[in-house]
Amino acid sequence: MNYANQFDSIVFFTGAGISAESNVPTYRGKGGIWEKYDWQSLACQRAFDQNPERVLEFHEFRRSLVYNCKPNPAHNTISQLEQTKAVFVVTQNIDGLHQKAGSGNVVELHGSLWRLRCDYCGRQIEDLNRKYRSKKCACGQWLRPAITWFEDSLESGVFAQAHSLIESCDLFISIGTSGSVWPAAGLPQIAFDGKAHCIELNLEKTEYSPMYNETYFGLAGTILPSLFQFK
Ligand code: APR
Repeated sequence: MNYANQFDSIVFFTGAGISAESNVPTYRGKGGIWEKYDWQSLACQRAFDQNPERVLEFHEFRRSLVYNCKPNPAHNTISQLEQTKAVFVVTQNIDGLHQKAGSGNVVELHGSLWRLRCDYCGRQIEDLNRKYRSKKCACGQWLRPAITWFEDSLESGVFAQAHSLIESCDLFISIGTSGSVWPAAGLPQIAFDGKAHCIELNLEKTEYSPMYNETYFGLAGTILPSLFQFK
C-alpha cells in the first residue's frame, strides 16, 4: 500500500515510540524513563517548587540522553512528505527530533526539552546546548523547563490547534503512543468522529486499536517508509 499520492491533508500524531529507534528512551515499558526515575520528585511543578536545581539537573540529564540522537526513517518520511502536501505533526514528544528531521508544521503538546521559561518575568528561552547555558533567568529567578509535566495543564492554544488540524485532515496516523496520558489521549477520538482515514502504528495493540481503520504492528522506522514510497 502506498499512501504517498492519496490524501491531501495528513496529521501524524506521535509519541515516544517514533523516537525509540533513535535511542530516545520511551516513558513506559522496558527501559522506560518512569521505570527508572520518579517523576513526582523530578518532573512536576511541586518538585520544581521544592528543589528547582534538582529538577533542572534531571532535565539537563534528559537533554544529554537526547542531544546526539538523530531522526530515524520514520521522522524523515514525515518531513519528506511535507514537501508534497499539507502535513502536520501533533507530537507528545519533547525531544525535538521532528524539527531536526526538517518538519516545519509541528505542534508540541508537551513542550520541549530545548526550551525554558521564566514564570516570574515571562521570558521564553530556546537553549539547544547539551548543558543549559544558564539555569537562572536574567531577572535572577530559576528558569523552568518549558515542558508540560504531569498535573500541568497544556500550554494554552496547543490543544485547540491540534483539535482543528485533526478535525480537518483526511488521513490521521498515530505512531508510537500508548495513549495513556490525557488530554492528548483524547485526540484520536476527534479523528474517529471526523472524515479521516485512521491508521495506528505501534509495536503492540493498544486499547484504541479497534477504533482505527487500519493497524500496523512493528517498528515505526521500518513500516512508515513502506507506507509512503516516493517515486
Ligand atoms: N515503533 C512503534 N511503536 C513503538 C516503538 C517503535 N520502534 N517503540 C515503542 N513503541 C510504542 C510502545 O509500544 C508504546 O505503545 O510506543 C509507545 C510508547 O509509549 P509511552 O512510553 O507511554 O510514550 P507516550 O505514549 O508518548 O507517552 C505519552 O506520557 O509521560 C508522559 O508526557 C509524557 O508525552 C508522554 C506521554
